[in-house]
Amino acid sequence: MPLPRTIEDFRRSFITMETEGLEGYVDGGSGRGITALRNVEAWDAIELLPHVLAGSGAPDTTTPLLDVVEQVPLLVAPTGFQEYVHPDGGRAVPRACAAAGVRYTHSTFATSGFSDLAVIDDLSWWFQLYVFTDTGLNTALMAKAAEAGASAIVMTVDLAVLGQRDRDLHTGFSLRGRGTVPCAVEAGATDARLAPLWSSLDHDMSWETLTTVVANAPLPVIVKGLVRADDALKALDLGAAGVIVSNHGGRQLDTSVATARALPVVVDAVAGRGAVLVDGGIRTGLDVAKAIALGADAALVGRAPLWGLGVGGEQGVVAVLRILREEFERSMTLLGARSTADLTRDLLH
Ligand SMILES: Cc1cc2nc3c(=O)[nH]c(=O)nc-3n(C[C@H](O)[C@H](O)[C@H](O)COP(=O)(O)O)c2cc1C
Repeated sequence: MPLPRTIEDFRRSFITMETEGLEGYVDGGSGRGITALRNVEAWDAIELLPHVLAGSGAPDTTTPLLDVVEQVPLLVAPTGFQEYVHPDGGRAVPRACAAAGVRYTHSTFATSGFSDLAVIDDLSWWFQLYVFTDTGLNTALMAKAAEAGASAIVMTVDLAVLGQRDRDLHTGFSLRGRGTVPCAVEAGATDARLAPLWSSLDHDMSWETLTTVVANAPLPVIVKGLVRADDALKALDLGAAGVIVSNHGGRQLDTSVATARALPVVVDAVAGRGAVLVDGGIRTGLDVAKAIALGADAALVGRAPLWGLGVGGEQGVVAVLRILREEFERSMTLLGARSTADLTRDLLH
């Protein structure tokens, strides 16, 4: 069976798979799914004012991000439990990122360990930290990540408790109790089984927690999961190197603002003091171009690679990432942008 040709076709194939509620877990949002939907609609609602006669030849898609140059301003967002989407998911997603030249973010709850990543050639990756009450475990996780080749820590701050996912309530879907968490095993957690780890997540996270993480991190820290300019500035004041404007793909607080609308406010407030990335509802390379034009340094995709994984395994993820890269390049050309620096707000109506 040939792989689908568009991200939307991957999504359609994925959600019609018989996966006992997994499709709802991946595709769904919290509550009635209002934010999950609005994230997508907000990118679509942005109209464009392209330049014409801007020259020919392939545009330069490279972009600077935290002292390195990315081939493209696109990253794979952290998603846990890839193994439930595909038996080899934990390794297939990072391998596909390496093949497609896209930076990968490794979730604390990924179903592969640091040692699995260390052996993948050409992989650029960040480690996403869920903060546990055990500070020693947090520090050990970050140290192991750095040792295995991660170049930044992404601290997720929007999961003080799990959002209520109505679709999972209906299907009865649950991930709890399914084995151990590889990163926690490698970091020497006292009990690395999912259920005890999950219940030892720090539900009292505060700005002090960020200060502690920054102090103990051997790498730059990027704060993921905020939508407010004042929170972004506070994160930078406390030593974060950047922020990811994110509402967890609409999976936490339903009716939280769509990220495409939150992004420009954060970008203006940050004013170049740190990196600003965005995720939520990015479904095409054109959405990535809009994010950069609004002032983001890069955009991340969460569900799209998982749809690729479910439908076509590692090759499905590679296909999804290649589609996004090609669409981004084509969008730049049609916008009259010769380089990512040419993607500016005056291209937006
Ligand atoms: C199935 C699934 C699992 C996720 N797991 C994590 C996670 O472990 N850590 C995290 O910070 N975010 C997690 N997220 C949120 C993503 O990193 C990202 O913020 C979101 O998916 C972006 O929206 P999009 O899916 O519309 O692209 C998860 C999202 C999904 C869909």
